[in-house]
Amino acid sequence: MTRVLLCPPDYYGVEYEINPWMHREQPADLPRARAQWREFRRILAEEAGAEVEEMPPRPGLPDLVFTANAGLAIGNVFVASRFRFAQRQREEPHFQEWFAERGYEIVRLPPDLYFEGEGDAFPVGEDLFAGYHFRSDIRSHRAVAEVFGLHALSLHLADARFYHLDTCFAPLDERTVAYHPPAFDDYGCRVIRARFQDCIEVNEADALRFGCNASVIGRHVVLNAGCDSLNRALEERGFVAHPVDVSEFMKAGGATKCMTLLLR
Ligand code: ARG
Repeated sequence: MTRVLLCPPDYYGVEYEINPWMHREQPADLPRARAQWREFRRILAEEAGAEVEEMPPRPGLPDLVFTANAGLAIGNVFVASRFRFAQRQREEPHFQEWFAERGYEIVRLPPDLYFEGEGDAFPVGEDLFAGYHFRSDIRSHRAVAEVFGLHALSLHLADARFYHLDTCFAPLDERTVAYHPPAFDDYGCRVIRARFQDCIEVNEADALRFGCNASVIGRHVVLNAGCDSLNRALEERGFVAHPVDVSEFMKAGGATKCMTLLLR
């Protein structure tokens, strides 16, 4: 059973601009965002079979819905994020409180080690694939990997539109990954191809719909609607693709995976 942490988008909005997708003059339609989120939650729980936990939304924290950025939780250890931007640093105490109340050991990184949680870090076997440049600091990777006894593999993010690793990279199982090669440098692509036997190259159209930002629940993959080539590639490999329209969240630079934190 895969457990995930979500946060309802009651106070969601595009209130500042900290990535190239966010434009205050293109505000989110809140009733529509809430309906999209409810459908996303239903698919995760009822069709993909995830066990869903929820944390309370907070007024004044419009990005709290993107729980992937809370930190990295494995077993009963939670490494808390250190957000790059002040607007999101205000979320840190709320995420930490949720984990502390549930008995997790909370690990705090030094204040200058920016680290944006699962948005930039994926454990795969003994490795920790981790992205840096726009948000997380490369020096945070080793610190986080050491906590969990993993080996950090740092990937440079080369395109500001794909500012978190989870916007362009989705490990599907031990041997399969979906990724958008132009979001990385050549060396990063080599590192990815060396680790996975089966690499799905996501084309630009699907990447710009944040197809790589997919919530992977066992063989179920819940992803933004309209990623037609990627859906076919998934089905050919025996995954079950569940498209869901999360267009209101794309306005803040997020899709399904950003709204999901795995409780590993
Ligand atoms: N507006 C949010 C930000 O820029 C979106 C976060 C998306 N999260 C993610 N895991 N990619 O921080």
